[in-house]
Amino acid sequence: MIITVEEASKALLEGEVVALPTETVYGLAAKFDNEKAVREIFSLKKRPQDNPLIVHIANLEELKRFVFPLDQETLSLAKAFWPGPLTIILKVDTTLVPSLVRAGLKTVAFRVPNHEQTLEVIRQVGPLVMPSANLSGRPSSTAPSHVEQDFGSHVPVVDGGCCSKGVESTVIVKDKDNWKIARQGFLSKEQIEEVLQKPVESFERDGKVISPGTKYKHYAPKATLRSLSELSDTRGKVILGFRERVYKNTKKTYFFSSVNDPEGICQSLYNILRQLDHEHVKEAYVDMDFPKNGLYQTIYERLLKASHNEKNQNVKHLVKGVESNV
Ligand code: TXA
Ligand code: MG
Repeated sequence: MIITVEEASKALLEGEVVALPTETVYGLAAKFDNEKAVREIFSLKKRPQDNPLIVHIANLEELKRFVFPLDQETLSLAKAFWPGPLTIILKVDTTLVPSLVRAGLKTVAFRVPNHEQTLEVIRQVGPLVMPSANLSGRPSSTAPSHVEQDFGSHVPVVDGGCCSKGVESTVIVKDKDNWKIARQGFLSKEQIEEVLQKPVESFERDGKVISPGTKYKHYAPKATLRSLSELSDTRGKVILGFRERVYKNTKKTYFFSSVNDPEGICQSLYNILRQLDHEHVKEAYVDMDFPKNGLYQTIYERLLKASHNEKNQNVKHLVKGVESNV
């Protein structure tokens, strides 16, 4: 059910849950301090309760209400990337944020989304928790129709069109003096390093998961996804690949974009994964032959996670390989 910005603000103030657009993916929003509404988000998404939520704020000033003083590096990152696809995990006074939002941790993740309609809602309502608007484990939503696929047409959605970025924000955390990426996202490690002028560690480097969400199977369609490199012949197969490449005699080929256009690949990624379900595809082969630096690293990680299911031991092995290499 499509609603206006004003209707969304009213519903949120009354303790309801609504879906809102952001530049990364659609989010399922509730007032951060309304525990009943926050609980409903976990229940709607079938989300494990040990997976904390991001608090979305309207600007850097609002962060000071939760964390003060802010260190210089946090300020530089926020000034460089907000509003935008960066989420920063910070230690907070735990009395200010319900435990359910934090999943019992002493930290909270904050982000200023870059989407005018949603910023207007936040200005009218105050900080909002907003996990991606998908059933837990499934591909995120990058259009209102995706939200409807997962939650039904009765869920209120503000229509902000298709998301301009198409993959989630990058989640980072400062550990002593070092910044670590807790979840890869639209912003690359290299872009963050350029602002900090020092190296940033990738997630799970020491084998520990920083963001609880990253330990779960994620972004996965119902189809079994395999790497195209496992195939000697594409005949009769469903292929996910790149526009300028030729895949011969396939049953069907879904094209992400050009292999030289990582931003275009992100924009189409979840839509294609969702299309597989819509068209009842049981098995598909993904062309993983693309660069692995910058934004491509996130694309690679999402595709591996999307392939990560019981039926697919080979890709499971690949996932382990990548985690120990980053
Ligand atoms: O782009 C995005 O970030 C989207 C849009 C809607 O803003 N939101 C989103 O939220 O992706 P969600 O809930 O699907 O993913 C949040 C990630 C999870 O992996 C979660 O574990 C992690 O952030 N996270 C949140 N709070 C955390 C905390 N205090 N410590 C560690 N990880 C945290
Ligand atoms: Mg999510």
